[in-house]
Amino acid sequence: MTTTLELSFIHRFKPASEPGRPPLLLLHGTGGNEDDLLSLGQMLSPGSAQLSPRGKVLEGGMPRFFRRLREGIFDEEDVRRRANELADFIAEARESYGLAAPIAVGFSNGANIAAAVLQLRPEALAGAALLRAMVPLVDPPAADLAGKPVLIISGASDPIVPADNAKRLATLLTGAGANVEHRVLPTGHGLSQTDVALTKAWIDQL
Ligand code: MLT
Repeated sequence: MTTTLELSFIHRFKPASEPGRPPLLLLHGTGGNEDDLLSLGQMLSPGSAQLSPRGKVLEGGMPRFFRRLREGIFDEEDVRRRANELADFIAEARESYGLAAPIAVGFSNGANIAAAVLQLRPEALAGAALLRAMVPLVDPPAADLAGKPVLIISGASDPIVPADNAKRLATLLTGAGANVEHRVLPTGHGLSQTDVALTKAWIDQL
């Protein structure tokens, strides 16, 4: 069952059915919506609460979490503004639904905004699984991510995320103190069964 209160983002909320599982913040890719990742979330951590907002920016009618100038070139002012907005929504939803700080599970544009939230508002997230993420901010503020678990899964032949960019993101987050695991799979931008299996195993050991 999903419930939805009137909060600052259109979203779905599914309460936990198993105590002790970490709440998940599900962040869709470009053109997705709040329903997209609910079944992925259920596969990754059955019984976890799920909070799934819809990105507020529209690109040719497709929801996203921040504006870009073109593929791979981000409007960083908007990234900052939207990451702060999303962090405020997380705080609002935590209070309304009585949630612990969530683990973000983001795909593509959703992974990029999750990375920006980690860098700008680290207190908002308990950790993050970033699937096909890239560096969201060229010059991020010094964040204290001490010990925060972060999983980055990249595709070796991803046409959208250059391999060195994903590596740079891992280096930046590690440098800020996060406990980063970076896996590179022999695949492209789309998610594979291996992404699901690795992310599930990573969440299970948190
Ligand atoms: C982005 O714009 O965040 C990335 O290029 C990924 C995408 O959404 O295509």
